[in-house]
Amino acid sequence: MDFNQIFELRRTINEFEDKKIPNKLVIEAIKAGNLAPCHRLTFPWRFKNIGQENRLKIAKRYLEIKSENKILRKNIKQKLRRKIMNPSHLVVASQIKDKDTKTDLENYAACSCAIQNIMLSLASKDIGTKWSTGKITEDKKTYEITKIDTKKEKIIGFIFIGIGKVPPKIKRPKLETIYSEI
Ligand SMILES: Cc1cc2nc3c(=O)[nH]c(=O)nc-3n(C[C@H](O)[C@H](O)[C@H](O)COP(=O)(O)O)c2cc1C
Repeated sequence: MDFNQIFELRRTINEFEDKKIPNKLVIEAIKAGNLAPCHRLTFPWRFKNIGQENRLKIAKRYLEIKSENKILRKNIKQKLRRKIMNPSHLVVASQIKDKDTKTDLENYAACSCAIQNIMLSLASKDIGTKWSTGKITEDKKTYEITKIDTKKEKIIGFIFIGIGKVPPKIKRPKLETIYSEI
């Protein structure tokens, strides 16, 4: 496969099927993540593969958050539960905190590169991903469930991994609007 094709293959999957993929492909992807560039060799990325028991706890908390100030219909609740439970794997990505703002910013850039490496590695094997952020990734309970110390690390997203429908193509900026030669 032409390497450049992988960039097009990687798309955000919104609906995952309830299908398992081999764990070794996830480990291979995490190894690709660990090869990302980082300034001053800070290696600020951390990943945790969430097991079934903890995923159920996250799904429960997700539903609680989504139900705040409103009553959700049964089918909506089922849909939300599937969102967390269907993907083959759920990896929580976190960043080691640094007191220095500039280092912290550069560390986030490095973590983003690592996550992109992970998603590209999986895309090359026809496996879908979704980098997701929101109230659930900021929630205190999520830190507790994933045993991530808020003082030391910041959760920067969930990476859902599995098989799912590829979304329609999106319009991207024309090359001339993002690139020039001066
Ligand atoms: C830091 C970050 C956080 C994201 N969080 C979400 C999210 O919470 N929900 C979501 O649907 N997509 C999320 N996305 C995915 C974007 O919506 C997606 O990349 C964008 O729509 C472009 O589609 P593509 O990834 O298929 O090219 C996130 C992407 C990044 C980089």
